[in-house]
Amino acid sequence: MDLLIINGPNLNLVGKREPSIYGSETLDDIQEELLVTAKSLGVNLKFFQSNSEGEMIDHIHKSVGSTDGILINAGAYTHTSIALRDALLGVAIPFVEVHLSNIYAREDFRHKSFLSDKSLGLVCGFGPISYQLALQGIVSFLHRS
Ligand code: DQA
Repeated sequence: MDLLIINGPNLNLVGKREPSIYGSETLDDIQEELLVTAKSLGVNLKFFQSNSEGEMIDHIHKSVGSTDGILINAGAYTHTSIALRDALLGVAIPFVEVHLSNIYAREDFRHKSFLSDKSLGLVCGFGPISYQLALQGIVSFLHRS
């Protein structure tokens, strides 16, 4: 099973960025921990991070044929990007929406997600563990389907 982990804008700064909200682990730390879990689950992970909406969309398009599922933390594009939603629907690859913080416990503008109604599931609020839970969830789902 081949999975793609996409992180959007400003997630390259995690670890330094607003640590009271996003914690002190870096994106590299989070990805290394995911690789450990992926090994135990027998799945392959690829990682992609971009601060550009267009690059994220291009990468989603390119993943057709080589990706069984996507975990995506789209950062602020979660709340703004119909184009990202359309890209995920366009490739018809099952995806899980992930956030470090609980977006529903924050500012009103973060309560709207253009992705969650089309996602297999949404995991938010658990810091780096959100990614771990999302990984376990998508692997279980794909094994059953
Ligand atoms: C985030 C939440 C978003 O609202 C924010 O814009 C981010 C990070 C999270 O992981 O908690 O950049 O996606």
